[in-house]
Amino acid sequence: MRPDSLLAIPSLLSAAVARRRGVAEARGLEAYRLVNGPADAAPEGLTLDRYAGWRVLGVRAGTSAEVIEGWASAAAVGAEGVVLKTWARVPSDSTSRVWSGPAAPVIQVQEGDVNFICELDQGPPTGLFLDHRETRFGIRPYAAGVEVLNLFAYTGSFSVHAAKAGAQRVTSVDVAKRALQRARENMVASGLDPDQHRWFPDDVLKHLQRPQPPRYGLVIADPPLYGHAGGARFSLLRDLDRLWSGVLSRLLPGGVAVFSTHATTLDHDALEDAAARAASALTRRIEVLHRWGLPEWDHPTHQAPNAADRGDYLSTLVLRVS
Ligand SMILES: C[S@@+](CC[C@H](N)C(=O)[O-])C[C@H]1O[C@@H](n2cnc3c(N)ncnc32)[C@H](O)[C@@H]1O
Repeated sequence: MRPDSLLAIPSLLSAAVARRRGVAEARGLEAYRLVNGPADAAPEGLTLDRYAGWRVLGVRAGTSAEVIEGWASAAAVGAEGVVLKTWARVPSDSTSRVWSGPAAPVIQVQEGDVNFICELDQGPPTGLFLDHRETRFGIRPYAAGVEVLNLFAYTGSFSVHAAKAGAQRVTSVDVAKRALQRARENMVASGLDPDQHRWFPDDVLKHLQRPQPPRYGLVIADPPLYGHAGGARFSLLRDLDRLWSGVLSRLLPGGVAVFSTHATTLDHDALEDAAARAASALTRRIEVLHRWGLPEWDHPTHQAPNAADRGDYLSTLVLRVS
């Protein structure tokens, strides 16, 4: 990077912050993306997220030390500290470290009327996926007054929003016991009683195989590309039809499915095709209600011929099942 580009970093960051501050303040959001790569005139793959007083800088492995230094120093101004995440092609090679500030920050962030506990330096994730924030608000009207099933629930961000929106009861399923424990703590942090809800530290596919009558008005599925539960391996591309079939069979007539993926090989059309195959096998009908993507206000995408190069990686399909 040329020295004059490095000098421009503080003003690029100020402009990016100014573009977002109004929306975030009006909505009571303490965690959102401040810089999203080329859409904010930053290098490809570089992101900067705000988590209350902390900043989380994400860079691709191989990013030059001077670029990291330039962005981290600018991000540190007025912040409690900066965590640096370096993303490698092989996910297990990705790293996280505190670049400035006290060690091992565990903080609480507000998202409207709910709160989430985030461990900013505990491996690659933070406990809260910022790219799903609008999905979390989007599910609320469908959660009110019904039973909700949240599959691959992780730290329960969808469960918390669903419960706060007035769901009768939320059932959260994830193989990771520690994540579900954090999900319970997130409910407490949001003024909710986790004991009013159900928690299953289970393999999602096994959980869905158990014969159960349909009972849910809303099923949320946000699977990873790959996962494992006990000895069983999960692969989204291989298990997509099984997963859709399980989701649809748990829904009451008129219920809503929210199915999300960050796999760039699975766009909305591919998700809808898989849902249609599962519906046809179950003799159910589907009606697409929404096709959601990234929140443009804090995750703007940039000009490029295809979705993957634009950084347009999130597809969420919302459909009603009869
Ligand atoms: C992408 S995260 C889900 C994020 C979550 N929906 C949110 O927005 O906060 C993927 C989660 O799937 C879980 N997981 C992976 N494979 C699984 C399986 N076969 N059964 C149950 N959970 C699984 C992981 O433990 C992880 O918590």
